[in-house]
Amino acid sequence: MENMLSKISEAVKFLKQQDFRNAEAGIVLGTGLNSFIQQMRVEKAVAYKDIPHFPMATVEFHKGQLIFGWVGEKKVIAMLGRFHYYEGYDMQEITFPIRVLKELGIQYLLLSNAAGGINKIYKKGDLVLIDDHINLLPSNPLRGLSDPAFGNRFVDMSEPYDQKLGNLISQSAISFFEVLKHGVYASVSGPNLETRAEYRYLQRIGADLVGMSTVPEVIVANQMKLPCAAVSVVTDECDPDHLQPVDISEIIAVAEQADKKLSRIFEKVIFDYQG
Ligand code: HPA
Repeated sequence: MENMLSKISEAVKFLKQQDFRNAEAGIVLGTGLNSFIQQMRVEKAVAYKDIPHFPMATVEFHKGQLIFGWVGEKKVIAMLGRFHYYEGYDMQEITFPIRVLKELGIQYLLLSNAAGGINKIYKKGDLVLIDDHINLLPSNPLRGLSDPAFGNRFVDMSEPYDQKLGNLISQSAISFFEVLKHGVYASVSGPNLETRAEYRYLQRIGADLVGMSTVPEVIVANQMKLPCAAVSVVTDECDPDHLQPVDISEIIAVAEQADKKLSRIFEKVIFDYQG
């Protein structure tokens, strides 16, 4: 696995040659949440398949590109499409791009995702700032990494989501007359959605949201001491007593409806961020 360090260096070297330099912010765009790119002045877009050692995006609704550009005067690297455990990647592959972004010099990371709403106060289309998480994925991105070059093995997770960034996101939302809800995100492997009994279980263990991403990236960001924050779009209401069948195309459609709003909020965060 120490081999991963050289793979990171090779990917970083390639991207620097493509002028991916001095970006302040990294951003990971979740399912149906791509419009942020339209708010960037895009300078470079590189397909994941052309970046050395990058996993390939398999899910057809993800385009699989790393984008470099500007938001105002700030340089940003955006991941258009992320990697999920259910696609067959292992946890180290899923989080490889986050290590590369950090090595390229980003100072903080914003993540977005589509999630099921467990908390009954959430409505379809709500934006929820993730406060904390419960990792129910069957493996861990830090497993097997003993080289201290990766960071601490026993990573502290007492505050996995940066409060300063979280406050900035909430304030930015308010300036668009949007009051964000807060919640705990549980990560599951998928790709099936949950049974009624599983939603009930998630509710009881303290989850407000459920989804199939984000947590591996957040664990690795914490290992690297990279401040991060994440926002979910509630794409379906997971009430076990009144559960409606959901289809992935509906989930994507709801995410797309909230996309513009979330992109504007992230844009303002990037404008306003001061290190
Ligand atoms: N469960 C898991 N992942 C999800 C859901 C869900 O209900 N909605 C969007 N992603």
